[in-house]
Amino acid sequence: MKIIVFGSFNIDLVYTLPHLPERGETLYCEKFEKHVGGKGLNQALAFKMAGAEVIAAGKVGADGDFLTDGLAAGGVDASFVDTSGAVTGHTVISVDPDGQNQMILFGGANREITPGYCDGILAAHPDADLIMTQYETSCVEYMLEAAKKAGITTAVNPSPYVDKVKDLPWDRIDYIVLNEFEGSSITGLSEPGDVVRALHALGGGRVILTLGEKGSVYFDGEEEVRADAFRVDAVDTTGAGDTFTGYCLCSLLGGKTPAEALTRAAAASAIEVTRPGAAETIPTGGEVDAFLKARA
Ligand code: RIB
Repeated sequence: MKIIVFGSFNIDLVYTLPHLPERGETLYCEKFEKHVGGKGLNQALAFKMAGAEVIAAGKVGADGDFLTDGLAAGGVDASFVDTSGAVTGHTVISVDPDGQNQMILFGGANREITPGYCDGILAAHPDADLIMTQYETSCVEYMLEAAKKAGITTAVNPSPYVDKVKDLPWDRIDYIVLNEFEGSSITGLSEPGDVVRALHALGGGRVILTLGEKGSVYFDGEEEVRADAFRVDAVDTTGAGDTFTGYCLCSLLGGKTPAEALTRAAAASAIEVTRPGAAETIPTGGEVDAFLKARA
């Protein structure tokens, strides 16, 4: 299975704090770490860990070797990443003792991607089984339109939510993976069953809605499937959604049932949140198997 992950590649600057900062507050930081990150990079590694062949597509600056090296070390093909950006994207992440976070995102090179770059990626990989996008780069809408024209199945994680997400070309999207906040912001609804139906009605795509501790919901227009989350002690929830996205879609495309895919993705993200960091803490398929066996 060959997946193009078109997305953001960020340097994550992670500050562990006694609590998330209030307006006007100065806080001493107890621990600082620099990690590879960005929704695109995290999802690329999640798809890879879940068993796919992954092509990373996006843009970094001259200081972006840290990220392309991280992708390559994880077994992702980073040779198509454009390295001519002005400044690599970065994210300042505050993490509290409960593992909850707050982020400041600087898009940098992620926002410099052009239609020409998108066309080049699609021309180089006409045999891709799926292209995965999020909402941290430029050209998301263009890439979705172009991918569909090229006959490639598309998936969107409309995150982080901004009002412009509502203008996505919904009829060009085959899979939508999103959280409760994003689902409610797009549809104006709150009940998960209503949210997935409204999202499906926008363009006919299959919808996967995550509900945090309340589990997740899948809806494809006919079948609605729900799965529970696993209870774990979280230390850092950064990257949990990306881990879920990669594992869930890889499982669905690999032929697992929606119930199996949701459960496998929930296990992967449950393991991920028990470890500090994001990309480097995505579990291997073997770790997910062992976790599921232990919880059976
Ligand atoms: O989903 C987590 C990611 O969001 C972080 O790695 C950060 O860089 C932002 O893109």
